[in-house]
Amino acid sequence: MVKALPGGMSARVFLRRHWQKRPLLVSGALPGFKGAIAKSALFALAARGDVESRLVQKVHRRWHVTHGPLAREQLTRAGTKDWTLLVNGVNHHNAGAERLLRRFAFVPQARLDDVMVSYAAPGGGVGPHFDSYDVFLVQGEGRRLWRLAKPSSFKLVPGAPLKLIAGFRADTEVLLEAGDMLYLPPGWGHDGVALDACFTCSVGFRAPRGGELAAAFLDHLHERGLPDAGYRDPGLRPAARPAQIGRDMLDFAERELARIRWGRGDVAEFLGRYLSTPKPHVVFSPRKRIAFHSIKNKLIKLHAKTQMHHLAGRIFINGEVLPPQRPARRRALTALADRRQASGRRLAGAGLERLIWQWHQAGFLLLEAKP
Ligand code: SIN
Ligand code: CO
Repeated sequence: MVKALPGGMSARVFLRRHWQKRPLLVSGALPGFKGAIAKSALFALAARGDVESRLVQKVHRRWHVTHGPLAREQLTRAGTKDWTLLVNGVNHHNAGAERLLRRFAFVPQARLDDVMVSYAAPGGGVGPHFDSYDVFLVQGEGRRLWRLAKPSSFKLVPGAPLKLIAGFRADTEVLLEAGDMLYLPPGWGHDGVALDACFTCSVGFRAPRGGELAAAFLDHLHERGLPDAGYRDPGLRPAARPAQIGRDMLDFAERELARIRWGRGDVAEFLGRYLSTPKPHVVFSPRKRIAFHSIKNKLIKLHAKTQMHHLAGRIFINGEVLPPQRPARRRALTALADRRQASGRRLAGAGLERLIWQWHQAGFLLLEAKP
C-alpha cells in the first residue's frame, strides 16, 4: 500500500488538504530523477503508430500542432528552440514511467490515467491552458518555469490549434528543477516554458463524465438485451393525414421504453467493464501459443496496459467481467488486482492456473522468475 507522496507527505494529509482543492509544490520530491525515459527512447515511441504523440511548435508567435506518428527527422528538423514533443501513455512501454505512476497508487486505479512525458527544447511549451483533471507535474532533467492562475471562467483563443487561455495573467510563478513536483487540481491555469532542454512527466488522472457514462450504459443495456415486442394494429383505419405518426404508435413506443429496467447489479457490471476497458489505441500482443506449463514458481505481474478492477464480488479485466467465482478464487484475484502482482503458487492454489495461463497467452500479464 502506498502511504506517502514522493517527498514524504502522507497520502492522507495530501488528500485532505490538496486533492481537488489547492496546488502543492514539493521541491526535491524525487532526488536524482531525470525524467523516466531517455530522449532517444521517447523519440522512438513517438514514431510508433500505437502510441499517441504530438509535436507543438511556436513559430513567429503562431502555434502549430503535428500529430504522431512522428519520424525522428521531423523532430530534429524542429530546430533548437520553441518546440515540445508530448507522448502519452509512456507507462505502457517504459518500466521507469510505470514505476512513477504506481508511486501514486494511493489514488484508486480507476482514477489513475497515465504518464505523459514531454521533451522540450528551450522556449518550448504548450501555451497557457487548463486541464479538466488533476495532474502531478514531475520535472526531469532541465528547468521549466510555470506560471499559474487560480481557476476562473477563462476565455479561449478562438481558432487556435490547441486549447489556449486568451489574455492569460498568472498569479504565481514556480521554477521546477530536476526532481521537483507540482500538483495542480482541475481548472488551474498553467503555462510551463522550458528554460533549458527539459523533460516533464505528467502523472494524469481521469474521472468519468455523466454524459459519457450514460451513452456507454445505454450500449451496455443493448448488449445485455432489451425488451422486444412487435407493433400490431388490427384496428387500423384509413389514414386521413398519411404523414402523421399515429397516437397508437407513440403509446407503443412509450410503453416499450418504460419496460427497460436495470438495477444496481447492472450498473456495477457495466461500471467495472467500462472502467477496465483499455483506451482505443491500446493493443495487447498475444504470445506465441506454447503448451501450458506450471506457474507455481513464477511471480505473476499484470502488464502495465492491463486494467483490472473488482466491485461487489465481480472481477473485471480489460473490459471483460468474469463469471461468478468461488470465494478462494475471488480473494486471490482481488489481491492480484489490488497489488498488480501475486505469487503463482497462491494463484495455482486457488485453482486459477488455467485462467492465468490464458491471460498470459493474451498478453495481459507477465510471468517472471521468482526473485
Ligand atoms: C508539458 O509537459 O509541457 C505540458 C504538461 C501540462 O501542462 O499539462
Ligand atoms: Co496541462
